[in-house]
Amino acid sequence: MAVTKVLMVCLGNICRSPLAEGILKSKVLDASIEVDSAGTAAYHVGNLPDVRSIEVAKKYGIDITDQQARQIKASDLDTFDFIYAMDEANYRTILKLATHPSQKQKVLMIMNELQPNENISVPDPYYGGDRGFEQVFAMLDKACDCIIHKIK
Ligand code: 4NP
Repeated sequence: MAVTKVLMVCLGNICRSPLAEGILKSKVLDASIEVDSAGTAAYHVGNLPDVRSIEVAKKYGIDITDQQARQIKASDLDTFDFIYAMDEANYRTILKLATHPSQKQKVLMIMNELQPNENISVPDPYYGGDRGFEQVFAMLDKACDCIIHKIK
């Protein structure tokens, strides 16, 4: 079976991309898709996801407490088939790591899977309340359905 490797990327790798990783993994019921996540910044390397991401995931039956934040590295652009940025700032940061057009092609805005070419960002919920995390979960849940549909 061909395995497709997907990397979810936000800034800190503690709020949005751990949710994206957990949601996509929860929808893949076989070994056809591997999912990981990373941050463009190193602030939270080694940390668990934010407790608010852990709680909203748990509410929908997903356990993300096995995750540990890491920073994206240049070799990720070779290792992964699809690299999904949560927002435009992170999209631009990831592209700066690319040295070859084939790597650039892999970098996509995640919400474009649902609303192509609109470049909608998943809002950074870090400084907000719990409702922000609910909104992020709902957006990523829909985007991950589209990703599964595209890959499978
Ligand atoms: P994330 O959220 O990029 O979705 O993980 C953030 C986490 C931490 C910070 C900013 C955004 N921070 O500034 O520490």
